[in-house]
Formats: sequence, structure tokens, C-alpha cells
Amino acid sequence: MTLAVCPGSFDPVTLGHLDVIRRARAMFDEVVVVVGHNAAKHPLLSVDERVMLVQTAVVGLEGVMVTSWDGLLADFLVRSGACAVVKGLRGGADVDAELGMALLNRHLSGVDTVFVPGDGALAHVASSLVKDVARHGGAIDDLVPIGVAAAVRAAVVREASAAREAAAVREAAAARQLAP
Ligand code: PNS
Repeated sequence: MTLAVCPGSFDPVTLGHLDVIRRARAMFDEVVVVVGHNAAKHPLLSVDERVMLVQTAVVGLEGVMVTSWDGLLADFLVRSGACAVVKGLRGGADVDAELGMALLNRHLSGVDTVFVPGDGALAHVASSLVKDVARHGGAIDDLVPIGVAAAVRAAVVREASAAREAAAVREAAAARQLAP
């Protein structure tokens, strides 16, 4: 029985991710999708939301499980007995971003990363771009699995409201400092 891990931030899961998960499942008996924490990113969606959205997206894909992991991916790889990490590549920028992680994960866990070229028709689909489009009120429905667009739009509204509240608190504090 071969088990592969598809790790990522999935903030949010996109059709590109789903394509790579399907390709991973075609190569391995079982696939665990791991929603992890990327220290370089500030997620829009909570871990629970991201897990739930990926779970909904993979309904019907037999042998695919979803979980979250708040630690080193290498530790998850060892604990789960995974024989590979599977990551999708859209282009050269992905190679630059992924190669170091693949080497480090192999160094720490002994588990290799298999790079899969994703569907060329989805090469422009990235979570960061999906969020940017949504923040500017653009349509993202055909870039993400069903149900994800609504969750992203709701999170963008929450984010904007939190930013307005924070600005109001800062303004009030500045006004207090200026008061005689
Ligand atoms: O979708 P992303 O943001 O490229 O996914 C990156 C992720 C979450 C897979 C990576 O940051 C990760 O593995 N985080 C867990 C902590 C860890 O193991 N860091 C060292 C990575 S070599």
C-alpha cells in the first residue's frame, strides 16, 4: 500500500490543487492532503475552513483523506509512513519555490518529493491570485471548486471589516494622544 502526501496552504483550495490531488491519487494507493502552515504567509481562511473546503472538494475521490498539521511536514511524513510528497508545478517560479522545500523535507525525513506538471489550462490558477481577484470584487467561481468562491468572498468581507475596525482604533488612539 503506497501513501503520498499532498501538502499546501490551500488558502483557498483551487482547481489546480484538485488536479494535482487527482494525479497523485492515480500514482499512489492513498493520498493524504495536509493543510499546513506556511510561515511566510498570512492566511485569509482559518485552518478549519481550509480543511472543510478541501474535504468538500475531494468528496467522491476514493482513497483521498484530508487533515491539518501544525508542525514540521517532515514529522508528519515520518509518522504517517508516507513514501512520497506530491507537488504540482506550473512553471519555473514553482520550481524555485519548491526545490528547497523538497530537499529539506528529504534531509529531515528521507521522503522524496514527486513533482507533477499540472493541467496547462490551469497554469494561471494560484491561491494568491484568486484572493487578489476576490478582494477586488472579481469573479473567481471558475477557478475554484464548488462552494469555495462563496467562502472566500465571505472571508474577504470579514477581512475588510476587521481592517476598518483596526483603523478606527488606531485613529481613536492617535486622537487621544493629540488631546490636551
Ligand atoms: O501551498 P504552500 O504555501 O506552498 O505550502 C507550503 C507548506 C504549507 C507545504 C510548507 O510551508 C510546509 O510544509 N509547512 C509546514 C512547516 C514545515 O515543514 N516547514 C519547512 C518546509 S521545508
